[in-house]
Amino acid sequence: MKLPRNVYKPLAIGAPEPYRELPVRLERMIHFVPPHLEKVRAKVPELARSVDIVLGNLEDAIPLDAKEAARAGFIAMVRETDFGTTGVWTRVNALNSPWILDDLTQIVAEVGNKLDVIMLPKVEGAWDIHYLDQLLAQLEARHRVAKPILIHAILETAEGVKNVEEIAAASPRMHGMSLGPADLAASRAMKTTRVGGGHPEYKVVADAGGEGPRAAYQQDLWHYTLAKMVDACAANGLKPFYGPFGDFSDPLACETQFRNAFLMGCAGAWTLHPSQIDIAKRVFSPDPDEVAFAARILAAMPDGSGAVMIDGKMQDDATWKQAKVLVDLARIVAA
Ligand code: GLV
Ligand code: MG
Repeated sequence: MKLPRNVYKPLAIGAPEPYRELPVRLERMIHFVPPHLEKVRAKVPELARSVDIVLGNLEDAIPLDAKEAARAGFIAMVRETDFGTTGVWTRVNALNSPWILDDLTQIVAEVGNKLDVIMLPKVEGAWDIHYLDQLLAQLEARHRVAKPILIHAILETAEGVKNVEEIAAASPRMHGMSLGPADLAASRAMKTTRVGGGHPEYKVVADAGGEGPRAAYQQDLWHYTLAKMVDACAANGLKPFYGPFGDFSDPLACETQFRNAFLMGCAGAWTLHPSQIDIAKRVFSPDPDEVAFAARILAAMPDGSGAVMIDGKMQDDATWKQAKVLVDLARIVAA
């Protein structure tokens, strides 16, 4: 059974009609910061003006002996910063870790009213979301948190991929999902040490000895999972995101990975390095020429029905809806 959606939930682009009137947030990049580092925290007020979401990371990449400092640093950072309309998120530790209970109880108690979304790693099934949902409900009631804190799941285990549809439908608190290619690669025993992106050895099978147009080209390692996740999110009114791209020395490959995700329906991606912020901004904002063409489709079919030709291309009710996705997104970017 589907639960009624949370009215505070940010609107997924292209979500079903009932949610169209709800507030929409631009979420092109989820920018990760390690909150135990004081010099990083000092830059957060300025950072908050240039990204759509600031996420205080408490999980992987935070050393074990800095877990408490990262949590305390995140609380201090949220208290001291005026984030304006920028989203305030945290990635807590996994549900089977020794830190998660303190992460949740302390953060909701201290800054629950400023926190938009909790990113939950290593989600394996709906039961993980149900647990967090109940715990958040109890903590919100105890600390008089005015608006529900949303949940964003990382899809990064084979078990999670198997259960992706149930996870997406698990709670009205669900905001969206991110693909976590590093943990997922390990979970599947994939033979790579990369964090996201392609792999030169993963190729489209070509004719033997093929050259030129018959040469073997690299395939997208993540296509299957991303497509599965996008469908699960779209069917439940959630936002899908591509996760991390770890090779900071290869901005072109990062942009290619982000662009594939954008075309597939993702709202944004993670940015782990400041150099990736502009890439995400560029990729996840629609191309002005595409928007201009989409606007012509909307203008040519004011009631969204029928069929017209524009520049030799057939347009109908379905392309009107496609055009609306682009024009709506362009409006949010311009706002
Ligand atoms: C992200 O957490 C990943 O594992 O890729
Ligand atoms: Mg991970």
